[in-house]
Amino acid sequence: MFDLLIKNATLTDGRNGMDIACSDGVIKAVEPAISAEAKTTIEAAGQLVSAPFVDPHFHMDATLSLGTPRMNVSGTLLEGIALWGELKPVQSVDDIIARALRYCDLAVSMGIGAIRSHVDVCDDELKGVTALLEVRRLVAPYLDLQLVAFPQDGLFRSETAEKNLLRSLDMGVDIVGGIPHFERTMADGAASVKRLCEIAATRGLMVDMHCDESDDPLSRHVETLAAETTRLGLEGRVTGSHLTSMHSMDNYYVSKLIALMAEARLHVIANPLINIMLQGRHDTYPRRRGQTRVPELRDAGLTVAFGADCVMDPWYSLGCADMLDVAHMGLHVGQLSSRADMAWCFEAVTANSAAIMGLEGYGIETGNKANLVLLQAKDPIEAIRLRATRLAVVRHGEVIARTVPNLRELNLPGRPHRLDPADYAPGN
Ligand code: FE2
Repeated sequence: MFDLLIKNATLTDGRNGMDIACSDGVIKAVEPAISAEAKTTIEAAGQLVSAPFVDPHFHMDATLSLGTPRMNVSGTLLEGIALWGELKPVQSVDDIIARALRYCDLAVSMGIGAIRSHVDVCDDELKGVTALLEVRRLVAPYLDLQLVAFPQDGLFRSETAEKNLLRSLDMGVDIVGGIPHFERTMADGAASVKRLCEIAATRGLMVDMHCDESDDPLSRHVETLAAETTRLGLEGRVTGSHLTSMHSMDNYYVSKLIALMAEARLHVIANPLINIMLQGRHDTYPRRRGQTRVPELRDAGLTVAFGADCVMDPWYSLGCADMLDVAHMGLHVGQLSSRADMAWCFEAVTANSAAIMGLEGYGIETGNKANLVLLQAKDPIEAIRLRATRLAVVRHGEVIARTVPNLRELNLPGRPHRLDPADYAPGN
């Protein structure tokens, strides 16, 4: 007797008619026509079953704070940082915990199983760190939360940032962050990258740096990040987040840079919703897109993922924890329109994000964790196209969220009928 049996699932690799049997929080079998009994059985009816969505770049200390204390009028990254600076002194630890827990509920309902969140370490009280460490503990049964020590105001630009970053790591924050493009000078930015990578090497930690979130083609801190990664033997443990300046860089320089990044086995996270919203704000027309060079980096062998970054906070007014929305935007902005590229965009919010976070036991395979999501779609491309409904979300073999199918009642003259948006695929 299994704890959970999912019948007739289609998997993201195209296998269909598959049954998935789970017990003790682990996937015990993935094969056609499993005939054993189970305490809970879900009929997938040919719909897609995926490992959970993974958001590899988020700001949980700021989420759901939109409008507090005011709105971002210019829509720029820099006004967002200034606005966040106004909010930080007036919010309490309990405020942050309450907002973060509300967001986690939303995220779980949308099939997200893991989030890497940056947490601002630039206030001496470390309110965000205190709050999110508690949130990490509270949500652990249903959501993996990784925390990055993020010196939002600049490691050197803020007098106490380094001291507070080290304190936050001592308190249990997982990863070393940074923001070299926000330091006072290019030289300070490069020095901050060097210092932060050394901290990570000394402590045996991963690095995930906001890097070159700028339209300035001469913002080249990712070059230093790659070189320091290689120098310190951190290959495969370092992530460059955003890298938007690469969009504007000279092609000849990029041809050298990407090889350097591949040598360092850097990981890359683009944040399509935020990049398309914040970048290019100083342009007239043509207006740059500001998303990093996703297909080129992927084709050079780097692991590239998409993150949500912000939901209803000083930088972004929209968002709903929908990683398919993120993939949809990344697909469009990157012009990733071939069948293979569109399917890859699904991986960018699932397997690739999980790989960057170093999640263990991830994926629909025997022996892995029984974490999965049943989608109202036949394949990953359709899931992105429809931003498919998450019919069931499973964690450790238990159904922890369900959503009713998206079925529309049409009452047209003479032919009332029910419409399933997935029926509009060619061939149906
Ligand atoms: Fe970010």
